[in-house]
Amino acid sequence: MFSFDRQQFGPQFTFGAATAAYQIEGGQKDGRGPSIWDSFSATPGNVRNGDTGRDACNHYELWPADLDLIRDAGFDAYRFSFSWPRLIPEGTGAVNPAGLDYYDRLVDGMLERGIKPFATLYHWDLPSALQDKGGWMNRDIAGWFADYAALIANKFGDRLEATATINEPWCVAFLSHYLGVHAPGYRDLRAAARAMHHVLFAHGTAIDALRANGAKNLGIVLNLEKSEAATDSPEDLAAMDLGDALFNRWYLGGVLKAQYPQVVLDFLGEHMPKGYEQDMATVSRPLDWLGINYYTRGLYKAASKPGAPIEQVTGPLEKTDIGWEIYPKGLTDLLVRVSNDYTKIPLYVTENGMAEVEGDDDPRRVKYYEDHLQAVLTAREQGADVRGYFAWSLLDNYEWAEGYNKRFGLVHVDYKTQVRTPKASYRAFQGLLHNSR
Ligand code: FCB
Repeated sequence: MFSFDRQQFGPQFTFGAATAAYQIEGGQKDGRGPSIWDSFSATPGNVRNGDTGRDACNHYELWPADLDLIRDAGFDAYRFSFSWPRLIPEGTGAVNPAGLDYYDRLVDGMLERGIKPFATLYHWDLPSALQDKGGWMNRDIAGWFADYAALIANKFGDRLEATATINEPWCVAFLSHYLGVHAPGYRDLRAAARAMHHVLFAHGTAIDALRANGAKNLGIVLNLEKSEAATDSPEDLAAMDLGDALFNRWYLGGVLKAQYPQVVLDFLGEHMPKGYEQDMATVSRPLDWLGINYYTRGLYKAASKPGAPIEQVTGPLEKTDIGWEIYPKGLTDLLVRVSNDYTKIPLYVTENGMAEVEGDDDPRRVKYYEDHLQAVLTAREQGADVRGYFAWSLLDNYEWAEGYNKRFGLVHVDYKTQVRTPKASYRAFQGLLHNSR
């Protein structure tokens, strides 16, 4: 059980659970088009055990029971993502009626259960047909994405409580085009520079399209880390500064101040798209809220190998099953920093949680949530206007390059039988939220 009371968060505070389409849906035969994760995961060496999201948690069929789990825990909201290739199989043009029907059922299912839909338009499953045209490296994606956003606004906008354009643009751009860890798996500076700008430009054009088509309560979800230096040496502090700029300030600065950090512009050099400055007003369209996903800190030191600008080191703190240090103070620091330095719009913690070894008894996860919820309360005391908190994740699911090996769920999933079993952490939320909806 958690040690605090729901009242400490105030009556308006939103508690929710989060998932993403490719990680849970399965259901690939309703006319859904291929996505970059289908081919990336089918390529040997990219994903642990060669796991793919083909079946995942079969949420496509089992969603009623999954929504019951959300309601029964007492959550107010469900953060889910629409699958672009399920709705528009080629990325542009013809719409898949079965995809529209599926999300109609899902959104109505939330409303019937008194669960507020918090939607994400893009959680990484880019239609392959668009990757064939360069995907996020192609400036035209700003138009493709805006058209998709308009479709969502028209079909679902009046039923959505809140809508985010992009989940974690750092992952979409840098992790996937510079570090090569996620689809499409590029390791190329020019590819990264283009994706880093186009993902935020497309966010802005999507905000315009959503607003023009009547959608309300619009935001973006950034993954932020608490950047720290391994030592106080000037070299390590400089490494931390560049790490922080690449991970945090590029996205915060772009979206909230129409400004990219100079240290990153220097790093990207001639590879930035020409005339990007003209797009910055679109990149920084006013938002109604900001989502922050937080898991851990980043610890930096000066690179020991020539060519690499910086290195990350593993710190001494206790680690989750995926190797990430547990650092609740980082969440307080980030929320307060964003509030003091960037924006006064409402903040939501849109993801937070930990990977733990398989099992229904997960006391370390209960403690992780306890400490991070406490970190949110502390940030609020220090003036950050945090309005909600979403646990990642409702279910054990397809953890991208880690496949099914890493489990983040409040609910255990047996992938052979698709049986769901709530864990102790689920019951801890139930204890906190029960009877309060
Ligand atoms: C975030 C992703 C989410 C999940 C968690 C563990 O970066 O948004 O899909 O993989 O990490």
